[in-house]
Amino acid sequence: MKKFELKNGNEIPALGLGTSGLRGKECTKVVKKALDLGYRHIDTADMYGNHQAIAAALNQSDIKRKDLFITSKIKSEDLKYNDLKKAADRLLNELDIEYFDLLLIHWPSPEIPVEESLKAMKELKEAGKTKNVGVSNFTIPLLKEALEYDSNLITVNQVEFHPTLYQKDLLDFAFKNDIILTAYSPLAQGEVFKNSVLESLGKKYDKSPAQLALRWLIEKNIVAIPKASSENHLKNNLDVFDWNFPVDAAREMELLDQNNRLIDPGYPKFN
Ligand SMILES: NC(=O)c1ccc[n+]([C@@H]2O[C@H](COP(=O)([O-])OP(=O)(O)OC[C@H]3O[C@@H](n4cnc5c(N)ncnc54)[C@H](OP(=O)(O)O)[C@@H]3O)[C@@H](O)[C@H]2O)c1
Repeated sequence: MKKFELKNGNEIPALGLGTSGLRGKECTKVVKKALDLGYRHIDTADMYGNHQAIAAALNQSDIKRKDLFITSKIKSEDLKYNDLKKAADRLLNELDIEYFDLLLIHWPSPEIPVEESLKAMKELKEAGKTKNVGVSNFTIPLLKEALEYDSNLITVNQVEFHPTLYQKDLLDFAFKNDIILTAYSPLAQGEVFKNSVLESLGKKYDKSPAQLALRWLIEKNIVAIPKASSENHLKNNLDVFDWNFPVDAAREMELLDQNNRLIDPGYPKFN
């Protein structure tokens, strides 16, 4: 599995399994299958309500903890200093792990200063409860605030990113500040399969639109966390490394942006 280096020298697998919408026994089964197929990076969040189901899959597997990369996220309601620390302990307990590989602020809150949450995150890192700290759904102004607080703390910003939402300015800013982007909804929640350009490129090169979208991201040093539940989809999405990315496919995919944002709760202001 290809990995990207974070600014603190740690590494993050370039592909992970998204688990939003997976719950209970189905979630345990899918995560177990994913681990068997070779996934090592699992993305979850307090909001997904599936920590215990993921813990069950991790506990059934004999993969060593150090070979796994587990990301979870603190929800906006828990971003005050004390609440965040309490939530982190609860999430570790639910996941039945001693530390997160990556702990993210899920969504910024208009009411709670970024610095207050980052102070708690920094202390969690110092206490060994998370190897890496990051944010999610942060715009450039919010990232600047985070960097002002501590230019070394934030290693990742997880944001919606796919060929029809190509956030070039955010990517450039992240690159300049040594922050890795993780693309959520990398398959545009299934919309990539309705895109005629991806469909015809897929036919031409015998790849699925999902594979092209994921490889397009990985070529840009962006981590991708597609959610999949069937074995076929899990396998298809993992097979994105050992083939050449055709130059004309890369070129055509640069032109697919439509500012097609699928998730926008109103804060932060994205445009
Ligand atoms: N930080 C945030 O605020 C945030 C927000 C949204 C999502 N996320 C994270 O990002 C992850 C992924 O995003 P997402 O779940 O919104 O959407 P996505 O990964 O873009 O798309 C998932 C959809 O694509 C289908 N699919 C997956 N692989 C396929 C393949 N090879 N061929 C055909 N269909 C395929 C899945 O179907 P099946 O399930 O039937 O396989 C599912 O319907 C989430 O699960 C979550 O972990 C984070």
